[in-house]
Amino acid sequence: MTRDIRFPKSFLWGASTSAFQVEGSPLADGAGQSIWYRFTHTLGLVANGDTGDVASDHYRCWEEDIRHMRDLGLNAYRFGIAWHRILPDGIGRVNAKGLDFYRALVDGLLENNIQPLITLFHWDLPAALEDRGGWLNPDIANWFAEYAQVCFRALDDRVDLWTTLNEPWVVTDGGYLHGALAPGHRNLFETPIASHNLLRAHASAVEAYRAEGQHQIGIVVNIEPKYPASNKPEDLEATARADAYMNRQYLDPIFFGTYPAEMKEIFGEAWPDFPAEDLEHIRRPLDFLGINYYTRSVTCHDPNAKPVQAGRVKQRQATHTETDWEVYPEGLADTLLGIRQRYGNIPLYITENGAAFYDPPTAEGEVNDPLRVDYFREHLKVSRRLIQQGVDLRGYFAWSLLDNFEWSLGYSKRFGIIHVDYATQRRTPKASAKFYAEVIKSRGSVLGSLD
Ligand code: FCB
Repeated sequence: MTRDIRFPKSFLWGASTSAFQVEGSPLADGAGQSIWYRFTHTLGLVANGDTGDVASDHYRCWEEDIRHMRDLGLNAYRFGIAWHRILPDGIGRVNAKGLDFYRALVDGLLENNIQPLITLFHWDLPAALEDRGGWLNPDIANWFAEYAQVCFRALDDRVDLWTTLNEPWVVTDGGYLHGALAPGHRNLFETPIASHNLLRAHASAVEAYRAEGQHQIGIVVNIEPKYPASNKPEDLEATARADAYMNRQYLDPIFFGTYPAEMKEIFGEAWPDFPAEDLEHIRRPLDFLGINYYTRSVTCHDPNAKPVQAGRVKQRQATHTETDWEVYPEGLADTLLGIRQRYGNIPLYITENGAAFYDPPTAEGEVNDPLRVDYFREHLKVSRRLIQQGVDLRGYFAWSLLDNFEWSLGYSKRFGIIHVDYATQRRTPKASAKFYAEVIKSRGSVLGSLD
């Protein structure tokens, strides 16, 4: 008997964006400032002085963007809600115009049979809350639940899939430890506190959803599988630490109610003893997990590094993207199988997967991006194989629908399947978008045989 080479009929074929990266118009219609607004308006923090003031102008071009999604055959779209549009001060007064924007977007998607998957927090914290301590203030669990509840009440009648946080590890590693991302702190002692409060806030939003939500809620984490550079004990230990820090720091508390033992070793005196009741609160069932997968790392012991940093051995023979990330599709298999082994067979979505490559338009205005096509082909093949192996993978979201603002790298790196000419806001589907459309239309049979 030949095995079906297609994806299941119910599979979600999507693309992802986040509010600050695509919307532009950050202060429009009564929105408050976000920490990313401030970060981009501070000299010297973002490549080329780029800001999110216009970005991909999705705030104004969303109807055209939905037409592109429909033309590509997408049946799902993952996007973020900007907290500071809904609650300009972070808490308290609700800005009706902010909600209207997302209501119209959701209605437009549904009219085109595109299922929304909402991210409540994709890094754009209201600046008013940063002024009160942001993720370092324990009250943020309540602030986040208040905001989440406003969103649930406005949209849960039309939205089936919700997620609380996008990549809490990046929020803390980039925003609190290394400072390359907003709010730009550099403080070892703050980092575990921000992490813990992110988890508490996540749990409080899930609790609020259980009280009145009708559909499903999860969280999105980035997983980068760690492979030891050798079998030397110091490399194996460095790999276990790197894995705990990046890949288990958030999922272990959610699934088991405990932090990985390595956390104390990594943070030393900066790691506080967190109250047991917090961990009880954090440990609560989710309906699904969103996994962002881009690359792997081959890890080694680095005698000059702090325990929180691991050495990395670059695989010179491999293809690397413009962000210097190794293309390693098998890492996606190891990631999803590893999740299943450690945390059980929870429904999974690949909520981000994609690559930055340099692919300028030709004289005829076409955008040929063969390396991105290869990237998607190989990762989609792995995804299909995993489903055949019984992994409960329910959807795939390409990062990103549009070229957009890549955080501290500004507009210098393009991840979109649709090219954006920032001078005119003209959209051009790249060859990778056309390839993805073929995959969707054939439910994966254009990917060829299973192996
Ligand atoms: C992820 C982020 C996303 C985007 C991609 C390239 O870490 O979630 O916003 O920047 O990386």
